[in-house]
Amino acid sequence: MGEKLMRKLSSGSLDFEVYFSDKAQEMKASEIRELLKLVETSDVISLAGGLPAPETFPVETIKKITAEILNTHADKALQYGTTKGFTPLRLALADWMEKRYGIPTSKVEIMMVAGSQQALDIIGRVFINPGDIVVVEGPTYLAALNAFKYYEPEFVSIPMDDNGMMIDLLEEKLEKLRAEGKKVKFVYTVSTFQNPMGVTMSLDRRKRLVELAQEYDFLIVEDSPYSELRYSGEPIPPIKHFDDEGRVIYLGTFSKIFAPGFRLGWVAAHPHFIRKMEIAKQALDLCANPFGQVIAWKYVADGYLDEHIPRVIEFYKPRRDAMLEALEEYMPEGVKWTKPDGGMFIWVTLPEGIDTKLMMEKAVAKGVAYVPGEAFFAHRDVKNTMRLNFTYVPEEKIHEGVKRLAGVIEEEIKAIKD
Ligand SMILES: Cc1ncc(COP(=O)(O)O)c(C=O)c1O
Repeated sequence: MGEKLMRKLSSGSLDFEVYFSDKAQEMKASEIRELLKLVETSDVISLAGGLPAPETFPVETIKKITAEILNTHADKALQYGTTKGFTPLRLALADWMEKRYGIPTSKVEIMMVAGSQQALDIIGRVFINPGDIVVVEGPTYLAALNAFKYYEPEFVSIPMDDNGMMIDLLEEKLEKLRAEGKKVKFVYTVSTFQNPMGVTMSLDRRKRLVELAQEYDFLIVEDSPYSELRYSGEPIPPIKHFDDEGRVIYLGTFSKIFAPGFRLGWVAAHPHFIRKMEIAKQALDLCANPFGQVIAWKYVADGYLDEHIPRVIEFYKPRRDAMLEALEEYMPEGVKWTKPDGGMFIWVTLPEGIDTKLMMEKAVAKGVAYVPGEAFFAHRDVKNTMRLNFTYVPEEKIHEGVKRLAGVIEEEIKAIKD
């Protein structure tokens, strides 16, 4: 509901705010989201979104599978399902993960969730006590911070470079915490083609992270929605691949390799952890959408998924290339950016002294939008960064958008020099 309508309906009646819980009182809509709403209705080129391109949705396949399912499996597809999910789909996914990632099916159990976003909330419920230390990447996925925040952890943010989380700095921090008698509950990482930076944790760091988890006794939450979207370079096994003890909780999703509208993701973890997460999920929604799960089962088991991934890659690669080329061509000196091998995002760092949140209004006035980087940091202590998305708008617009953005940045750089 719009603010205006809400005000109209509220005037002279209840004091609605007083009924909210303390935690709900703290929930605030982001001011950037409000600004981005305006962008959607104007001719501003938005490099801000995080959406897959609708052109990649396998509509014909979905039509075909849906007709088939309604003929043969309507009883399962239209009925309530079990909380853990539709067993043939869970088995097909376990199989797929074993083939693709070398994660033995015997070592994991899979639970289906309403998008991996739901898994983040369930993880908060199941693992975080107020004051528990949760390590995140700096920057990290904004909606994971928001999901965890509800359970009142203490965030420790570890800086990133082109090879992902700086594991040597994590080790220093762990040592310091140990000296203070404190322990980390879990490390949250978007290990491959990270949101928001686009970078990938190197193989050495993955292995070292698992060793540290054993040494300092913490869990790892590996959130991996982008790992199949690789446009260059060699595939790298997930952290979960190196986990012999069950310390790694892996999150996968159909959002970027099928369609986010299904709201379907999965958790692959030790059965002991899955059991508790299942109980937590029961109270949330009983089960993830069974209709979607039966469709997703056919999509995976009949080989459509493996056929579809290369098509998505073919569609996105020119867009990634276009953005990198445009950045190279237009960005003024002193601006740096990541060069991702995959995923959906590029991270841009401007010279110190520029606040990208304050710059946003000027950018929108010049016809381009981005996401200011500040909100991706647990302590909101970095001001000169931004996230650009390259999957949603076509190449020509990417080119023009980056050109406009470079113009705005050039002016800002001049202004801080004067
Ligand atoms: C790192 C990360 N985790 C989780 C999600 C949520 O994905 P889903 O659509 O599976 O809920 C996203 C979506 O953008 C994401 O970037």
